[in-house]
Amino acid sequence: MKKILTIILSLIFCMAGITACGADGDLTVKMQIGNSVMTVNDTEKTIDEDGTVPILMNGRTLLPVRAVVEEIGGAVKWEEETQTAILTYGDNEILLTIDSPTAYLNGEPRTLDVAPALINDRTMLPIRFIAESFDFDVAWSEQTQTVTITKGTEAVKPTSAPLDNDRQESKTLVAYFSATNNTEGVAKYIADGIGADIYEILPEVPYTAADLDYNSDCRANREQNDTMARPAISGTFENMEQYDTVFLGYPIWWGNAPKIIFTFLESYDFSGKTIIPFCTSESSPIGSATAMQNVTPGANWLDGRRFAAGASKDSVAEWIDSLKIDFGSDEEVSKMRVQIGDAVFTATLEDNAAVGEFVEMMREAPVTINMSDYSGFEKVGFLGLSLTTGDVQMTTSPGDIVLYSGNQIVMFYAPNSWSYTKIGHIDDLTGWEDALGSGDITAVFSIAE
Ligand SMILES: Cc1cc2nc3c(=O)[nH]c(=O)nc-3n(C[C@H](O)[C@H](O)[C@H](O)COP(=O)(O)O)c2cc1C
Repeated sequence: MKKILTIILSLIFCMAGITACGADGDLTVKMQIGNSVMTVNDTEKTIDEDGTVPILMNGRTLLPVRAVVEEIGGAVKWEEETQTAILTYGDNEILLTIDSPTAYLNGEPRTLDVAPALINDRTMLPIRFIAESFDFDVAWSEQTQTVTITKGTEAVKPTSAPLDNDRQESKTLVAYFSATNNTEGVAKYIADGIGADIYEILPEVPYTAADLDYNSDCRANREQNDTMARPAISGTFENMEQYDTVFLGYPIWWGNAPKIIFTFLESYDFSGKTIIPFCTSESSPIGSATAMQNVTPGANWLDGRRFAAGASKDSVAEWIDSLKIDFGSDEEVSKMRVQIGDAVFTATLEDNAAVGEFVEMMREAPVTINMSDYSGFEKVGFLGLSLTTGDVQMTTSPGDIVLYSGNQIVMFYAPNSWSYTKIGHIDDLTGWEDALGSGDITAVFSIAE
């Protein structure tokens, strides 16, 4: 756990340090994936004595920067019990909890695109959130695999950045209350599945085990028996107006939604929004939504779905599919970016199953493929998995990008006749042949803005 805390501290204090060091001037900190040396205003410094290096994990950055922690005077507390890091710098305080998509900035809940997570005993942090909270800029260079954090200088514009999820603004929110984390699991599957934002409805006074002991005169029972009970929610959710669809998740308590769900529904204007309830329970069905409908005039309620505790990802995905709703994350992508060294090209994509699957991969993170020459007309490299093929015999032309044998991406600089599934074509071939050059290359494919 010490290591985890170190990593959390490291990142935060790196950023805090920027402010501190930059008080009498600009400050730029650069960290490169796999490099145990960082630069602070062009001065090289070892990140820590263990030789820890920044890593990329599932397209996100993890910056272990213990040395910086020791340089700067901030304050951090780690709450082992709640797995929460409390980071204070100046007047600002950030609370980050492992696996929770809700962070707190000065007591106000904020929904994170990426929850702090433990991966191989390391913590992945939502860098952009922290950067913005402490008012500095953070940028990512795909080419050099470098994170640049800047304070005081002209902002470095981010390129295709695996820093956090730079998704397009979602129009769908998954809001949930979960006392013992069963509903939370389903909520995360939904949010991940459709690329929705997620918000945990947290009670101001958390429910203890005794509060949930429904065989006694517990707090939960008393609330359920009190029509007027509206347990207070911790903080407020900003930008509710941004969403047109809200998945609303909760556990069944005595056949109904917990009263805190009513607090939530009465706190915002849901008119014109579609609300899709889901719940977990020991055995009870989801029941009637009438009481909730009564407090949300103008909202369009769809039939909900009950899941058992520990519901599988597949069962949640099946339900989502059955709704036949076009969620924002499926917004059509027609262009992709192809980067080879310094050269960046745009390609127009075909409309077929393979492209759909490839786009899904790129939504997760930029796709990097090592490619080699073949037969003097193409660069080819393995994708690492197979896509759905729709092979047709074709004669390719320079700039064509195709799927070969289901699992290899081919980029052409000269024609060839074969059976392929077409992925797309480079829009402007200026510099294309030079960029492909001769010998092995690394190409990075990402969704074009
Ligand atoms: C106060 C209370 C009342 C409950 N009432 C019911 C019920 O009526 N029917 C049922 O099947 N499960 C009931 N349960 C069990 C929960 O619905 C179930 O454990 C649920 O998955 C918990 O979700 P959570 O972990 O997201 O809080 C109740 C649990 C509590 C604490």
